[in-house]
Amino acid sequence: PAIHVLNGPNLNLLGVREPHIYGRETLADIEARCVKAAAGATVVFRQTNHEGVLVDWIQEAREVADALIINPAAYGHTSVALRDALKTLSIPVIELHLSNPATREPFRHHSYVSSAATGVIAGFGPAGYDLAVQAALTSIRERG
Ligand code: DQA
Repeated sequence: PAIHVLNGPNLNLLGVREPHIYGRETLADIEARCVKAAAGATVVFRQTNHEGVLVDWIQEAREVADALIINPAAYGHTSVALRDALKTLSIPVIELHLSNPATREPFRHHSYVSSAATGVIAGFGPAGYDLAVQAALTSIRERG
């Protein structure tokens, strides 16, 4: 199976960006975690700062992915376009956040992506990516 892992704006700066919130691991470290957790399944791991590029990648996943994991970062709080794109998918969609947005500023409490997600993982730091890959593999297996 193929698991696509999409990362939104500013996540390229992980490791140096507000480490008290997001930790010291880089996005490359997190990609390595995903590959390991996937245990042989294909992982396509990407990051962009651009909303439309995320829309393009979600549309691409329609054709080739068996599950999609997305950390939409700040676009989760703002983007109807991401939500609409995700709604076109018929594969498991896992929304992921390193932090738990519900414990943070009020503007982070709403996510447009959640209503298009199969499930949400938040608050476990980089380990959330391992959990998300496991959730993706389980969802793929249980759908048959
Ligand atoms: C984030 C949480 C968002 O609120 C924030 O805008 C991010 C990262 C997280 O992984 O905790 O950029 O998605």
